[in-house]
Amino acid sequence: MSDLHGLATRLLRRLDPEDAHGWAIRALKLGLGPIRGRDDPILATELAGLSLPNPVGLAPGFDKDAEVFRPMLRAGFGFVECGTVTPKPQAGNPRPRLFRLSEDRAVINRMGFNNRGLEAFAARLARRGPGVIGANVGANKDSPDRVVDYVTELKRLWGKASYFTINVSSPNTPGLRALQTESALHDLLGRLAEARETLPAQGRAPIFLKVAPDLQGTEAETIVETCVTYGLAGIMVSNTTVSRPALSSEFAGEQGGLSGAPLMELSTRVLAEFAQAAAGRLALVGVGGIASGADAYAKIRAGAGAVQLYSALVFDGPGLVTQIKRDLAQRLRADGFSSVAEAVGAD
Ligand SMILES: Cc1cc2nc3c(=O)[nH]c(=O)nc-3n(C[C@H](O)[C@H](O)[C@H](O)COP(=O)(O)O)c2cc1C
Repeated sequence: MSDLHGLATRLLRRLDPEDAHGWAIRALKLGLGPIRGRDDPILATELAGLSLPNPVGLAPGFDKDAEVFRPMLRAGFGFVECGTVTPKPQAGNPRPRLFRLSEDRAVINRMGFNNRGLEAFAARLARRGPGVIGANVGANKDSPDRVVDYVTELKRLWGKASYFTINVSSPNTPGLRALQTESALHDLLGRLAEARETLPAQGRAPIFLKVAPDLQGTEAETIVETCVTYGLAGIMVSNTTVSRPALSSEFAGEQGGLSGAPLMELSTRVLAEFAQAAAGRLALVGVGGIASGADAYAKIRAGAGAVQLYSALVFDGPGLVTQIKRDLAQRLRADGFSSVAEAVGAD
């Protein structure tokens, strides 16, 4: 089967990237994805109280409408984050809005939170079954009060998701990233904490914040202190970047967020900054540019309790997750660690 998945990935790479994504989702819904066996026990770990069979998660944006989280768990991901969902369905930006930068092993996207809305998302998550499935929530582009959007989503999805991620870092919704600034973040996380107090204790799920890698000065420290103040469980570091390191592909000049290999160095550096500021008080998830076991291991050593990836799948297909896990387990053993947790922050 893995040869077939490799062939399918090569065929999909010849299509327009958004069409290719649509076909991948259809194939996964039909049960045509890879099926992997049990994980190496050395990979089992905990993230903010959630038990993961392995620390390699699927980053949000791939399964925006919570349609294929089960096949992606079967393909070997330790957890899957669905979304970003917004309260109302939203078309997103005009196409083309997704670009494959093959020479750079990178992607630029300016999707703009295209999704079918909270009701459809909630209905699918309600039937989720076993496994750790996160809900990544955002705000509608035309929302008069974006904080209300996040609160509405938290309430509607309470008890249905294993964890929540508050996405304030997409570069493709104008003004969204301003929610990362100190006073806006106090307002957002304060109102979310208030809402959480009114919700039933048995649906309790950890809440994470997802940040951009394009931060300045002491922003990481401020964000960490604000997250700690309002009882957040952790931070996802990071979303795509609006910066442009040296790129060689013809699409390098497209507007939007850059992800994939050229994001690895920046997002890992920012992760290490967050790890230093958090000093063990928050769980961190390392996202950005992971394409190998070495990359995943570097994020863990920089302070990530778990990792996520998306862009590398565009180039390598879903079989990549098995390779990453095998390599990660080998690296842990070679360095004398007996668990992922022991290696977290080793650098
Ligand atoms: C096409 C595409 C769509 C994305 N959509 C979302 C999204 O809806 N919400 C979100 O938090 N991140 C989104 N992301 C960002 C990824 O979750 C991840 O943070 C980023 O791509 C870096 O990881 P990578 O280099 O492994 O892709 C998207 C990324 C891509 C490439």
